[in-house]
Amino acid sequence: MSKLLSKSFVSLSTNQVANRMAKKYGLKFGAKRFVAGDNTQSAVECVRELNRNGMVAMLNYLGEFVSTEGAAAEATNNCIKTLEVIYESGIDCNLTVKITSLGLDINKELCLSNLKKILDKAKAYGNFVRIEMEDYSHCQLTLDIYKELRRDYDNIGTVLQAYLYRTEKDINDLNKYNANLRLVKGAYNEPAAVAFPKKSDVDKSYENMIKTHLLNGNYAGIATHDDVMIEKIIKFIDENRIHKNQFEFQMLYGIRSELQKQLADRGYKVRVYVPYGIDWFGYFMRRLAERPENVAFVLKNTFK
Ligand code: FDA
Repeated sequence: MSKLLSKSFVSLSTNQVANRMAKKYGLKFGAKRFVAGDNTQSAVECVRELNRNGMVAMLNYLGEFVSTEGAAAEATNNCIKTLEVIYESGIDCNLTVKITSLGLDINKELCLSNLKKILDKAKAYGNFVRIEMEDYSHCQLTLDIYKELRRDYDNIGTVLQAYLYRTEKDINDLNKYNANLRLVKGAYNEPAAVAFPKKSDVDKSYENMIKTHLLNGNYAGIATHDDVMIEKIIKFIDENRIHKNQFEFQMLYGIRSELQKQLADRGYKVRVYVPYGIDWFGYFMRRLAERPENVAFVLKNTFK
């Protein structure tokens, strides 16, 4: 039952009609638990509070699967504005972006050109941009774009997903680029032809990829809410004398906030993913898919 619910939420996350409706009606169904707000001011306030509590952040102007050049240009401008606001407000925060929002599905060159505008702005401000990993159909293209831009930019990183069989090879390949990687378990519905169907295999792959990447000497954003995994990795880090400036823990806004604070209080760098903007629906559905128990919380908020 829970698996079925989870699959339905992931399908809804990419449903264009549902996404359009949600945009029109503003943050609803308790989405505020996971999304900082629909405007820049609410995003800055949220990050300021995290900074006050000893954590850093990354802002994501919500948006994905854009199908017109105009919408891709708008998303690019929103990313640039976000970088400006980060700079002007002095918050400790970088940028994270889904490149389907920058026109990846229209054509690669358009996406590259938009991404360069964002990276140039970030460079001028001394800031960093991470390109996220979306569903499997975009994986190779995303890595190609990352590698192409990495030649000219130091301030770029990307993401690898432990549930994909190919990741073991990708992590070693990206070692040639000294890649700054966010390492995640993976959030999309992928078939057994490309991804491990069993959670225990995903967890094993996740642990291995983090260890390999750290031993390769590269920077890791260890992005998980799995406290057992986090303790295993901390033990590994201590045993291998990996320096604190080679990794950070990353978690999503509104999820396991007490664990975020505890890690920060133990002296670890914790970066919280803070999404904001009117395009909140797909993101919200994926968070519900990860934990269908949250549906009770949504229903309570819907009928309040
Ligand atoms: P797991 O699913 O095993 O959960 C461990 C524990 O965390 C659960 O038992 C529960 O206590 C808690 N938890 C997890 N999800 C929760 C939720 N929604 N609500 C409440 N509690 C929850 N994916 C991707 O494909 N591409 C990407 O670019 C990113 N980017 C990204 C950034 C950051 C900062 C994070 C933390 C995650 C991502 N992800 C992602 C999502 C990632 O792939 C994965 O789906 C989620 O992190 C859930 O898996 P966990 O590693 O947390 O472990």
